Amino acid sequence: MDENDKIVEEAEEAASKARDSRSLYETKLKFLGREGRLATLMKRMKELAAAQRPVFGKQVNALRERLEVMFAEHEERMKREELMNKLAAERVDVTMPGKRHSEGALHPVTRVKNELIDIFSGMGFEVFEGPEIESDYYNFTALNTPADHPARDMQDTFYLTDEFLLRTQTSAGQIRLMERKKPPIKMLSPGRVFRSDDDATHSPMFHQMEGLVVDKGITLCDLQGMLDKFVEAMFSKTSRTRLRPSYFPFTEPSVEVDVSCYICGGKGCPLCKGTGWIEVLGAGMVNRRVLENCGVDPDVYTGFAFGMGIERIAMLKYGINNIKLLTENDVRFLDQFKN
Ligand code: PHE
Repeated sequence: MDENDKIVEEAEEAASKARDSRSLYETKLKFLGREGRLATLMKRMKELAAAQRPVFGKQVNALRERLEVMFAEHEERMKREELMNKLAAERVDVTMPGKRHSEGALHPVTRVKNELIDIFSGMGFEVFEGPEIESDYYNFTALNTPADHPARDMQDTFYLTDEFLLRTQTSAGQIRLMERKKPPIKMLSPGRVFRSDDDATHSPMFHQMEGLVVDKGITLCDLQGMLDKFVEAMFSKTSRTRLRPSYFPFTEPSVEVDVSCYICGGKGCPLCKGTGWIEVLGAGMVNRRVLENCGVDPDVYTGFAFGMGIERIAMLKYGINNIKLLTENDVRFLDQFKN
């Protein structure tokens, strides 16, 4: 019995020295583990006479119980201490001033692009994205603009090789889609385009949104009706459109589309340069040649196409006077577009 007390005392001392649950556990193993003190004691059983064994066994069991209770208490204490330490370490001072996280916002070009996609997908258009590096064929030839065509001068092209170029217009997507899909077609194609052009309203890289509708019986009236719905949604309920004759090799007839000035309502102001109208996009009926180039029978199907500059729409909508602001990424400028 004296020896039991001594062992418990020893274990108690070792347990109180344990710094964490792990070392406490290791200490416990030294006494109660398979190779611990208690196990060693049990081995002594063999050396004893049969009559002494039950008494000895009882004493060892009593010792085991005392040790177990003692370790359980220490474990409990250790758990509490560790929890307290953890809580202390993770303490948050709720009276400290907060850290300000500056919130990001979508770029105005992205906003306008998303808005355009929203408006047109509401009319049943699906989005198709073509490549930024195009072949001369898709960007020009298939769009009824062969190599010697004077309309090539309308766009200053960045050529990569004789065959490849940075697309100057998203119209290339019209061809790619029509090669893949038979009418009825209602396609919207956003993307970056490139032209060797650089001033306050032109940038060598900008974004366009192309639209293409091909089906039986599509007319210029369908184009105008759709455009009216579009400007109502994009600018204001009272916005109107005006079609002026124009020229694009891939549309016939071609039109330039103006929207009534949403600032002055048509009376004339600095934004519309006193005319009451603002030019927003180019459009027209898809040229028969283009349909033929894509294997679509122009005697069965007709269609219209339109293309607009996303930066231009953003500049009009937000009153931005220099296109460079849209690529400089000055946070003082971008900050103004947080809803
Ligand atoms: N691709 C023309 C441009 O870049 C715009 C356009 C698209 C005109 C579709 C008519 C039809 O100027």
